[in-house]
Amino acid sequence: MTILITGFAGFIGFHAARDFLRRGWWVVGVDNFCDYYDVKLKRDRAAILGEQPGFTAHELDICDFAGLEKVFAEEAPDVVLNLAAQPGVRYSITHPFIYQKSNVEGFLNVLECCRHAAKVPKLVFASSSSVYGGNTKMPFEESDQVDTPVSLYAATKKANELMAHTYSHLYKMQTIGLRFFTVYGAWYRPDMALSLFADAMLHGRPIKVFNNGDMLRDFTFVDDIVDGIVRVVEAQNLPLYDIFNIGNHRSEKLLDVIETLAAALGVTPKMEMLPMQAGDLYATYASIDKLNKAVGYVPKTTIREGVPVFAKWYREYHGL
Ligand SMILES: NC(=O)c1ccc[n+]([C@@H]2O[C@H](COP(=O)([O-])OP(=O)(O)OC[C@H]3O[C@@H](n4cnc5c(N)ncnc54)[C@H](O)[C@@H]3O)[C@@H](O)[C@H]2O)c1
Repeated sequence: MTILITGFAGFIGFHAARDFLRRGWWVVGVDNFCDYYDVKLKRDRAAILGEQPGFTAHELDICDFAGLEKVFAEEAPDVVLNLAAQPGVRYSITHPFIYQKSNVEGFLNVLECCRHAAKVPKLVFASSSSVYGGNTKMPFEESDQVDTPVSLYAATKKANELMAHTYSHLYKMQTIGLRFFTVYGAWYRPDMALSLFADAMLHGRPIKVFNNGDMLRDFTFVDDIVDGIVRVVEAQNLPLYDIFNIGNHRSEKLLDVIETLAAALGVTPKMEMLPMQAGDLYATYASIDKLNKAVGYVPKTTIREGVPVFAKWYREYHGL
């Protein structure tokens, strides 16, 4: 079986590709190596994957429709895992157009390539907990209304869910969206809070803590996310279209996470308390009952176990 992973050089794509290779899948990766964050980190991830038998990489933008069509024709994937996107809530306030490009136009290209493929693949795609926007009922359930996004990033992820539904309805192709909840782990993105905190802590700078630390996040260890992705990809019993939360079902206080990270790095953090940032959510908390019932998903990793794994990798990778 062949899986085409878009965004393979990214944080989640790298972990997912490694796991599918271990399981004996042929993995085809597509990534444009955009410079939203340190491209060396993406190249280092890609180099590790490049050494594995069964892996093929294409340096390509999913907005290049002709190029993407060619990859689909050559590789004939059984499954497509679409992770390529412009991530980041805050960045979407300053750089709106790239979100329309990669997340809407790029995603439409992926849908069109799936639809016209000789053998139509199953499409599993990344959505986000950010679609819950202004919702206050906890935990977030898939049946909740998600019509109040508070960032353009969230709006593009909701758009992906709607677009996928249309393609499943019109063309009877299977599309499954996964709403990821704050994923973290080794090989992490440098723009995410834990990385920014680790960098500041190890260089003796104060960390910027928004909303005075009064925030709650459902932090999900990347191995648990990959386990959920694999279960969804391999499941034979899912409907033509569905959406699932994929989180840890534990909403952590930001200050506890900071304390856990500081302990793992062996430092005493200095904190600069700041107001809430535009586009941010106060709390995220995933109901994971639906994914548990459908494919037996049970996340295993608490922040006490997962944060030290991230901290160890961070020190080693950055030589700190
Ligand atoms: N990490 C999280 O906590 C989180 C939470 C919710 C949703 N998500 C979603 O999961 C997916 C993966 O996130 P990640 O954390 O691994 O991010 P990432 O930025 O590390 O990975 C995305 C990859 O896609 C590539 N890419 C971006 N635009 C592209 C384009 N137009 N064509 C081809 N490649 C392109 C990038 O170069 C990058 O390697 C994204 O869709 C993101 O929105 C992530």
